[in-house]
Amino acid sequence: MRGKSRVAMRVAALTIISLLSLVQGSSEPDLYRGLSNYTFSEDFMFGVATAAFQIEGGWNEGGRGESIWDTYLHKHPNFTLDRSNGDVAADSYHKYEEDIVMVQSLGVKYYRLSMSWTRLLPEGTDNYVSEDGKKYYRNLFEGLLKANITPMVTLFHWDLPTPLMDLGGWTNPKIVDFFEDYARVAFNLFGDIVKLWTTINEPHQHCANGYGNIFFVPALDAHGIGEYLCTHYILLAHARAYHLYHSQFGPHQHGKIGITLDSFGAKPKNESNPYDHVAVEQYLQMHLGLYAHPIFSSTGDYPEFVRKRVDYMSRDQGYTRSRLPYFTTEEIAMLKGSSDFFGLNHYTTYLISHCSGNKAWKVPSMDHDTGVCMEQHPAWVKPGADWFTIYPPGFRKILNYIKNNYGNVPIIVTENGLCDYGGLEDFVRVSYFNKYLYQLLLAVNIDRCNVIGYFAWTLMDDFEWNDGYVTKFGLFHVDYESPDRTRTPKLSAANYGQIVRTRQIDFDFIKPPTKYQPQSNRL
Ligand SMILES: *[C@@H]1O[C@H](CO)[C@@H](O)[C@H](O)[C@H]1NC(C)=O
Ligand SMILES: *[C@@H]1O[C@H](CO)[C@@H](O)[C@H](O)[C@H]1NC(C)=O
Ligand SMILES: *[C@@H]1O[C@H](CO)[C@@H](O)[C@H](O)[C@H]1NC(C)=O
Repeated sequence: MRGKSRVAMRVAALTIISLLSLVQGSSEPDLYRGLSNYTFSEDFMFGVATAAFQIEGGWNEGGRGESIWDTYLHKHPNFTLDRSNGDVAADSYHKYEEDIVMVQSLGVKYYRLSMSWTRLLPEGTDNYVSEDGKKYYRNLFEGLLKANITPMVTLFHWDLPTPLMDLGGWTNPKIVDFFEDYARVAFNLFGDIVKLWTTINEPHQHCANGYGNIFFVPALDAHGIGEYLCTHYILLAHARAYHLYHSQFGPHQHGKIGITLDSFGAKPKNESNPYDHVAVEQYLQMHLGLYAHPIFSSTGDYPEFVRKRVDYMSRDQGYTRSRLPYFTTEEIAMLKGSSDFFGLNHYTTYLISHCSGNKAWKVPSMDHDTGVCMEQHPAWVKPGADWFTIYPPGFRKILNYIKNNYGNVPIIVTENGLCDYGGLEDFVRVSYFNKYLYQLLLAVNIDRCNVIGYFAWTLMDDFEWNDGYVTKFGLFHVDYESPDRTRTPKLSAANYGQIVRTRQIDFDFIKPPTKYQPQSNRL
């Protein structure tokens, strides 16, 4: 409790300090000055997001079973940049009450979090449900509701139970049943108080980098085949959970359930080269369409371009069967329309160009099948991890892409945020949120994109997968040197709170000193 009121006081103090310490910025005219001309509607869903493995810790407490990230990192400590793992992380297993106060201090009415599959089902299967897991999530969800915050719960945010990985993970068709069983337990136990669910988080990142490459666990590197099997059964598992919910729980629980997909922005490297425009479309079809088309398009199934491309490449490479599995007619129908909203995670944009080959591509692989070159714009600011540059208009563009390709489906931006190397005076993060949210306002007010919610990634500095604790995305700083994992709000927390409360962006609320102004300020 003492900890909780300390956090609340820090937020209040920081808000005042930041108001007093306005520093004169660049005086050049640009898009992003004063008050935004557009505002967020009263019912626009503002929230903040986290994921279980990235914050909970308590890896072996209360009988929790091991997930693939536990097992793999214990066996390969140097997989992460700082040789860290998720054993303690931000210790939210013990400190969740403080987390709730932090969420509340931002003024948001929604908190997106994920459940650890193995905290609830230690063996992954539904024959044994952990009492401790039940209690932990019940307390957490009830605590949020008492604080007037609606939980949005993700069932799978990458921490697959190790016993299911031993059976092949998402490449085993039987995983579809296992996931449905897990979802049933979750809906049964928590559906009375959880009314917003997401099934799977970022299948593209998980399958491409975990099954088709070595960047994420399980680091299978089964390129060309593994990422497509993972994609196929993840999609089917999602659809099963969706229909389970709406046939057996929805009628009395009255909630909504959807999937969260990720997409980088894609900009033609040479705007006047038609081949680069084709390359952009190819890229988006392979990375977003592969997942979105079966669910959100009017025709269903994998996108025609992807189907033809992988079939052709497979034949050309001597395979009798396509490396991309086929859905049955029943499966196509089951997938079509199986999401109540389009969950989008978006962070950055790449320049895409037509090219004939790249020595870095493995053969076969999804990259090789996609066949386009990607690079970063040298002038776009890179405040942290190598994959991350700032280009706000890319956000508006991807929102429009979704609108134009998948009907005007309601979009919830389930993650968006900035990566840096830490610090409480995070002017670049403040500027990132202001500019990206402004692009969202333009998409809604000018382009009529149906964006109904936005979740900032992330509540606090966390375990960032293979980056360990080196790169930071938090609105709150976490002291990883301290056993208390002390949380302290950054300037961006005060700024986000201001946006949420006023429903408008005030670009001058926290004015960065000139030296912090990103060079490409007017983009
Ligand atoms: C708001 O609108 C005015 C008048 O059209 C324009 O000059 C100004 O740049 C706009 N400001 C923003 C932040 O869009
Ligand atoms: C990490 O560990 C693996 C296996 O033990 C080893 O092959 C590799 O060289 C190590 N890498 C680094 C950077 O230490
Ligand atoms: C961009 O594409 C156009 C049309 O193909 C071409 O004429 C021009 O030279 C290209 N520009 C660059 C910088 O490559």
